Amino acid sequence: MENKKIKVALLGLGTVGGGVYKLIQRRSESMIHTVGAELGVEKILVHSLHKKREGVDTELLTTDWKSIVNDPEIQIVIEVMGGIEPAKSMIEEALGAGKHVVTANKDLMAEHGGELLDLAAAHGCDLLFEASVAGAIPIIRPLKQCLAGNEISEVMGIVNGTTNYILTKMFEKNMSFEAALAKATELGYAEADPTADVEGLDAGRKVAILSSIAFHSRVQFKDVYTEGITKITAEDIAYAKEFDCVIKLLAVAHNTDKGIEVGVYPVLLGKEHPLSSVRDSFNAVFVHGDAVDDAMFYGRGAGEMPTASAVVGDVIDVARNLQFGCNGRISCTCYQDLPVKPFDEVKNKFFLRMQVKNEPGVLAKVASVFGGHKVSIRRVVQKHVQEEAAELVISTEKVKEYHIKDALRELQKMDSISEISSMIREY
Ligand code: NAP
Ligand code: HSE
Repeated sequence: MENKKIKVALLGLGTVGGGVYKLIQRRSESMIHTVGAELGVEKILVHSLHKKREGVDTELLTTDWKSIVNDPEIQIVIEVMGGIEPAKSMIEEALGAGKHVVTANKDLMAEHGGELLDLAAAHGCDLLFEASVAGAIPIIRPLKQCLAGNEISEVMGIVNGTTNYILTKMFEKNMSFEAALAKATELGYAEADPTADVEGLDAGRKVAILSSIAFHSRVQFKDVYTEGITKITAEDIAYAKEFDCVIKLLAVAHNTDKGIEVGVYPVLLGKEHPLSSVRDSFNAVFVHGDAVDDAMFYGRGAGEMPTASAVVGDVIDVARNLQFGCNGRISCTCYQDLPVKPFDEVKNKFFLRMQVKNEPGVLAKVASVFGGHKVSIRRVVQKHVQEEAAELVISTEKVKEYHIKDALRELQKMDSISEISSMIREY
């Protein structure tokens, strides 16, 4: 008996697309057993037909989207081009034509996930996007399925491989920011425009997706406070080491009685915290649910084959659904409309580094300004004392963001303070 064949098309053949193509070839024989059908890449949409692409059957390449969407034999479209357009229109057209879609595109899912999932549901199609958050790590499916019996109150983690790689190299090898970013780009971790990585936007989009799923309420990317790692200096890293901490770019989301708190920012993290040992391009996501208690998911957050692993997992899921005629089982799970708290109202601990005049009464003045803005001091270190100047490093207790910002604005106006050099949150 001839094996059934499920035909798929790839949109994009870059880092991720190349990995997906390879992995589908590698698994082609076992697919009969896991899916009950062959899986064949029939067409691949690219920008340029002239680029050198090793190991790829060039007959499959096309620049003609219509030849894919109008091909009734193609059942699954895998979007790994990135960006909003033309990816969005193509996914809409594919769903409209009854094709199932797998995407790794967090920019798109963070901004238009709700409407695309509704469109998929309207057409009885699957729209799966496991690779859009934390690369290889299974986290979207666990949240939507395995942990569906929980009320999730916290999702927190390292969800950007590029910045985790850069911070690890700066911390462990004293590598410069620029050199570490160049290496992360060479390894295929960085976005087409790495500003999205280093300014925390990529992680912001991922935590918007994660918190929407975890809290069953749509969180828009514009609601996420984002701060990147470009202001982290060698001096900050030296203090982190002295305090037995590391610096990590964390994505943090809490579902509180007063609304969802959500942000991305660098954090000084104690070495005893499990996230402190997540190095290089690895990611990890912490989840707290009322029944499961704490759970942590760990793995490669970026790169060719790790990301392909998540994409191909989704493709196999769609193919299995096709075999059983049960596509479109799980679509948008946002059934409530919770407010997102203004970030200024969120409470955090802070590490502050400032350059001050070395004269009597300065510390007392600083303490008095903090006291006036409800900032409680936890630790003070004074270093690099010269005849006229000194560096003051202060750690605070938890305080609302707007109180610390008001206090720093007031300190900046004082003659005895020449510079506020760093403000990093502590965990
Ligand atoms: P990439 O290396 O830049 O590859 C993009 C591919 O899409 C290229 O093959 C390009 O064609 C093709 N393409 C782009 N625009 C096109 C258009 N208008 N028409 C036809 N083809 C087009 O990107 P990537 O790193 O693989 O990332 C792809 C997606 O996966 C993005 O959404 C990204 O955020 C996501 N993602 C990436 C990673 C990672 O580690 N890289 C991890 C998770 C998720 P040419 O080859 O002809 O230029
Ligand atoms: N640029 C992203 C990262 C790719 O570094 O994590 C994975 O989404």
